[in-house]
Amino acid sequence: MRTYATTAQLRAGLREYRQQGNSIAFVPTMGNLHEGHLELVRRARALCDIVVVSIFVNPLQFGANEDLDAYPRTLSADKEKLFSEGAQVLFAPGVEEIYPEGMHKHTQVQVPDLSETLCGSSRPGHFNGVTTIVNKLFNMVQPDVAVFGEKDFQQLSIIRKMVEDLCMPIRIEGVATARDCDGLAKSSRNGYLTAAQREIAPVIHETLTTCREAIACGFDNFLQLESHARMQLLQAGFEPDYFAIRDARTLRAVDEHTEEIAILAAARLGDTRLIDNVRLAVN
Ligand code: PAJ
Repeated sequence: MRTYATTAQLRAGLREYRQQGNSIAFVPTMGNLHEGHLELVRRARALCDIVVVSIFVNPLQFGANEDLDAYPRTLSADKEKLFSEGAQVLFAPGVEEIYPEGMHKHTQVQVPDLSETLCGSSRPGHFNGVTTIVNKLFNMVQPDVAVFGEKDFQQLSIIRKMVEDLCMPIRIEGVATARDCDGLAKSSRNGYLTAAQREIAPVIHETLTTCREAIACGFDNFLQLESHARMQLLQAGFEPDYFAIRDARTLRAVDEHTEEIAILAAARLGDTRLIDNVRLAVN
């Protein structure tokens, strides 16, 4: 596996692969790789000849009071995992390489509307940070396919919209959420949980699946379902941020055009913010 830290090196390396006629799949990450990330790498391998993974903890998508400094950085363990999965290229730039003049002097890419709801309202500016870095990484790597997890469902929707709006010639591939045996979605942030919090954490997925079952059984008072779920989260010890039943395509309220429903939740356990979602088709 080749590892590059600069855009110039990355471009030179990828030019070679491209000249040989290889297709390129790209998996952007912030590192501290777990089974969820590795599922994306496996999908990427199945789709293209060459797999490029980036590891960059992007300061632009963290709020002032968030966990940028504490975010786990485990580069050598990550490299081993990527090598075992058969990724050919790792791009691991430093902050100066990405934001040489400082991140606040950098051009930003903004997807309106979709970026402002759910996680966007509790984390102002977060998705601008995500779309800015993903756009930049797309221009550096110029992949044929880019792979993202459905665990961050709003992020995936925003990336799809950005690619469509800006006519980027990249296929966006979504991969199902990898979970622990008790249903907890795998996340780099799970490592922050105490043993007691880890016991409680699967309740977030339980409330989502209970809600999905109720809707599948024909229960259609969504406001009641949402407030009931928030209550369940509170009682379990979470501080709920949102629990929302939305149209999976628009992330707006469900209406007569809705073909698929997404149920999305974000909640805090102590200082750790967890997110998860499930979906169901409307018949
Ligand atoms: P990060 O949280 O490292 O996640 C990288 C990719 O892994 C994202 O597409 C995310 O949805 C996916 N992922 C994380 N946990 C997953 C799980 N349990 N199952 C399936 N996929 C999972 O998301 C980011 O980084 C950043 O915002 C990034 C897109 C890299 C931009 O900085």
